Amino acid sequence: MVKKIVTIALLMMILIVSGCFGNEQNKQQIQPGVHTVADPESITVLVNKQNAFPEGYEPKDLVYPNVPFIFNEKIEKRMMREEAAKYLEKMFHAANKQNIHLAGVSAYRSSQTQTTLFNNYVERDGMEKARTYSAVPGTSEHQSGLAIDVSGSDGSCAADDCFANTEEAAWLADNAHKYGYIIRFPKDKDNITGYKYEPWHIRYIGVNLATELYNKGLTLEEYYK
Ligand code: DAL
Ligand code: ZN
Repeated sequence: MVKKIVTIALLMMILIVSGCFGNEQNKQQIQPGVHTVADPESITVLVNKQNAFPEGYEPKDLVYPNVPFIFNEKIEKRMMREEAAKYLEKMFHAANKQNIHLAGVSAYRSSQTQTTLFNNYVERDGMEKARTYSAVPGTSEHQSGLAIDVSGSDGSCAADDCFANTEEAAWLADNAHKYGYIIRFPKDKDNITGYKYEPWHIRYIGVNLATELYNKGLTLEEYYK
């Protein structure tokens, strides 16, 4: 009887241990060479194709910035972290005074939302192309609550290549750093950032660092190297 119990216990232990190793292998196969960031709540956190959020990370201080969006609903993608929201308000206000009327297109996205979005793009364009403009779930800056896609207030060219030729894009490129934001995926830096040019995607990193990167013409990747 005792022998039987010991044998069963041993078998169960072998199954549990092999199960754990199996999961580890699966994880590595899904995201080879991707690190988990240690400081997901840091304002200056580097999240990209090589650096992912811990699974299920959600910022704790999401608020609705008091700026216009191209939609009216109070939904997830209207939210940002408190400090980023405050500086976004300052920026939109300053732009308005110079007759530039900005609107939010898409700000915070949970990893679940990013999963749905990314899977749709993969279905439409295939994995290789989708990865040039959309982040694998867990690696999108939108999950930080510190990034937002911006357009002109009429919503034309929202998150579209034609935004590059607008006065709103020019204003953002010249002024966003004064309010702590950078153009996160600049032109001709896709080999460094991993993404094609997105003049509409701005990321809050604080006024000091944003100004330094603007003056030196550096991406966040180059700064951390
Ligand atoms: N479009 C950017 C890369 C994102 O999906 O986060
Ligand atoms: Zn974006």
